[in-house]
Amino acid sequence: MNSLLVLYHSQEYGNTALMAEAVAEGARSAGADVTLLNANERRITMDEYRAFDAVAFGTPDYYSYFAGTLKVFLDDWYLGKKTNPARLSNKPYALFLSHGGGGRAQRSFEDLFKQMGTKVGNTVVSAGRPTPPILEACRALGQQLARAAR
Ligand SMILES: Cc1cc2nc3c(=O)[nH]c(=O)nc-3n(C[C@H](O)[C@H](O)[C@H](O)COP(=O)(O)O)c2cc1C
Repeated sequence: MNSLLVLYHSQEYGNTALMAEAVAEGARSAGADVTLLNANERRITMDEYRAFDAVAFGTPDYYSYFAGTLKVFLDDWYLGKKTNPARLSNKPYALFLSHGGGGRAQRSFEDLFKQMGTKVGNTVVSAGRPTPPILEACRALGQQLARAAR
């Protein structure tokens, strides 16, 4: 069974958390062993990150950029690669974004997370509370990611 991480930031309304749970549900339905982690609650170590076969990253739009906790993750990842690059790069990854009506963070989010490996699917972008079609798109993305990790 593939292990899949859903690493996201959610703090304001739980909008990104709802999307993360839908991605996790889709991935589990495709047979993945899924770990959900809100980066606002805990900082993941690079040794933990190494263990996953695939990863979905989710963020709210904060000032037209992605959330600071995911920037901290990227910084840790870059520095971690210098000391021990094993299993830190080349993972299949997927992205999802929640915004309040702007959504301009999509560009920086996609640009910076390109370093993670091979992107699976399109970024799921949601305005405000995720609608049923958005949650369905998140489930489909989770499934697609779990399949790509095989
Ligand atoms: C500090 C802060 C900055 C934000 N900046 C933006 C922004 O620049 N553009 C935008 O569309 N939404 C912005 N928002 C709205 C959030 O992206 C939106 O409410 C999101 O759904 C919150 O996700 P969450 O409920 O998972 O925390 C901001 C919210 C906060 C708290």
